[in-house]
Amino acid sequence: MLGNFTYCNPTKLYFGKDALDGLNEELPKYGKNVLLVYGGGSIKKNGIYDKVIKILKDNGKNIYEDAGVMPNPTSDKLNEGIARAKAAKADLILAVGGGSVCDYAKAVSVSVHCNDDAWDKYFIRFEDVSCDIIPVGCVLTMVGTGSEMNGGSVITNHAQKLKIGHVFGENVFPKFSILNPEFTYTLPKYQMVSGIYDIMSHILEQYFSGTDDNTSDYIMEGLLRSLIHSANVAVENPTDYEARSNIMWIATWALNTLVAKGKTTDWEVHMLGQAIGAHTDATHGMTLSAVSLPYYRFIMPYGLDKFARYAVNVWQVAPAGKTKKEIAEEGLSAMESWMKKIGLVMNITDCGATADMIDGIVESTLVMDGGYKVLNKEEIRAILKNSL
Ligand code: NZQ
Ligand code: ZN
Repeated sequence: MLGNFTYCNPTKLYFGKDALDGLNEELPKYGKNVLLVYGGGSIKKNGIYDKVIKILKDNGKNIYEDAGVMPNPTSDKLNEGIARAKAAKADLILAVGGGSVCDYAKAVSVSVHCNDDAWDKYFIRFEDVSCDIIPVGCVLTMVGTGSEMNGGSVITNHAQKLKIGHVFGENVFPKFSILNPEFTYTLPKYQMVSGIYDIMSHILEQYFSGTDDNTSDYIMEGLLRSLIHSANVAVENPTDYEARSNIMWIATWALNTLVAKGKTTDWEVHMLGQAIGAHTDATHGMTLSAVSLPYYRFIMPYGLDKFARYAVNVWQVAPAGKTKKEIAEEGLSAMESWMKKIGLVMNITDCGATADMIDGIVESTLVMDGGYKVLNKEEIRAILKNSL
């Protein structure tokens, strides 16, 4: 049964080959000072930087830059960004990059006019925003996180060995996001497939929870089937526009809050992945692919009906003459073969984790209660050991 909910997604999207023109519509809505936030330089190599700068200049903006946002942005970098945005008196933060850049822009946006330490306030104490928020816009260049249309922001604190996400409210969602699938063509294959698995994981985190008949589960099965098909095409031919545009759109739908409405969700794979990330700084999607199967095989008996449904509806496992357990196991085997085929990392050793890190990763793993089994520390340890 659908639970009660409110739904509002205020992010305006511009999608397609001409999407960047949308900046000309959006920029006049904001003041003159724009803080342009980007990562380690991919946008300079592929020409997106020059295109954005030209549009900013054409619109008469004062451009301030905050470069070098790293994958898995850190609390130290966040403090630097807050100081830059303050100095620039930014009226708009324009994030040009992937989820890291977009997440970081949101974290800066809620911290500039707030006197508390941003890490402690939002990522330890999970407080609401109680100060003015600088609007954020996003030009997306890496597909996976859904950050372009949600309030999520994930920050890593290396000293504390924590990687924590804060899900902010609608007032922190990007005001607009520019989604041009062609901007993702220059992604290395490793990043592309990592993003593809991040999308799959977002869907599965919301799918493997609850036993009710829920419209969201049907939507998610459709999204998964489209994702698997488009991923197969994109891995063969990375510049297949149809496949890349579908992947970009599925990523947005997977985590723009819609499919979670009225249902329970899990998110334990992300808690495990983020803990691994806190200790290794590994690529987000790969931390998820590395732990997913040991986790799902462990919880499968507790959610057997859903795992059997997943096998049949997503992986086309023929159910005739098989027990539910056999069907469910066949589904996870089909998933495993596909993951290997597209080139995902299948163990945490390849993410940089070692056996002596396990205790620390267990301590860094937050435990969620929406999945089919609430894990205890020993179970987390066992899953991580199985993932080595
Ligand atoms: O820094 P540059 O030089 O731009 O290179 C980036 C980076 O090295 C590169 N890249 C991006 N676009 C490119 C490109 N290279 C060539 N061509 C392009 N067009 O890709 C690398 C990875 O970028 P990053 O932004 O780190 O990837 P992603 O989008 O996967 O973001 C990961 C971060 O998002 C968080 C993760 O935890 C991680 O910190 N997440 C955010 C979520 C949210 N907001 O809701 C949810 C997710 O579950 C996730 O946790
Ligand atoms: Zn994710």
